[in-house]
Amino acid sequence: MKKTVNTFKKMKQEGEKITVLTAYEYAFAKIIDEENIDMTLVGDSLGMVVQGEKNTLGVTLEDIIYHTKIVSKISKQSFIVADMPFMSYQVSIEEAVFNAGRLIKEGGAEAVKLEGGIEFKDEIKAIVRAGIPVQAHIGLMPQSVHKVGGYKVQKDEKKILEDAIAVEEAGAFSVVLEGIPADIAKKVTNKLSIPTIGIGAGVSCDGQVLVINDMIGLNEDYLPKFVKKYAQIGDETRKAVKSYIKEVKGSKFPQKKHCY
Ligand code: KIV
Repeated sequence: MKKTVNTFKKMKQEGEKITVLTAYEYAFAKIIDEENIDMTLVGDSLGMVVQGEKNTLGVTLEDIIYHTKIVSKISKQSFIVADMPFMSYQVSIEEAVFNAGRLIKEGGAEAVKLEGGIEFKDEIKAIVRAGIPVQAHIGLMPQSVHKVGGYKVQKDEKKILEDAIAVEEAGAFSVVLEGIPADIAKKVTNKLSIPTIGIGAGVSCDGQVLVINDMIGLNEDYLPKFVKKYAQIGDETRKAVKSYIKEVKGSKFPQKKHCY
């Protein structure tokens, strides 16, 4: 059954954990959906894991629309959230609403996510007023990497609580807590009536999110402490490529069964 914002409200009330993974293309989006992950995020992390950039800042709205279209079209169960990339909602409330609308209309997303707390209360309110569910993202915000001077764990409890309350008041249906100490995440989770989705925020959050490429071992670059590798797909792919090269060079592939 297709998940909705009401599913997540009920899951929080009943203490059932919410599972979230990112996806950017058909094969993984299909596996994620068929395995019944509750929410699929088309994250701007695609800038790093798909486009090979060093941060997420160059990702465009067109990039997110392109990948969201692919992911949303095969989703039968998972709720699809599209990330609002850097500079797609920071310039004005009008642009924020218009661009959120494009992710829904053209991308087929069911909600949008944006990084920011109290400073983006008005943008969140306006997007929600337009009928679009918003997932907020506070704590470590990768789009602010230059402002903060790196990808740093955020420990200012007062600011984190203030941001969390502000986004709930603005109408966000859930909030991602990234890179904050587990005890602060627990306090936020207990304080809010909307679900918290943690990444590097401990086990007390109402749900967890990871980048698919990281958790299946497809990202061979630096991995933060909070990532657990559930598979070694990068190593497996290397082995397969090595075998293929060896067999083609040695005229061992194709065999008769592969020929017409
Ligand atoms: O862009 C992304 O994938 C994200 C998640 C890691 C929360 O923002």
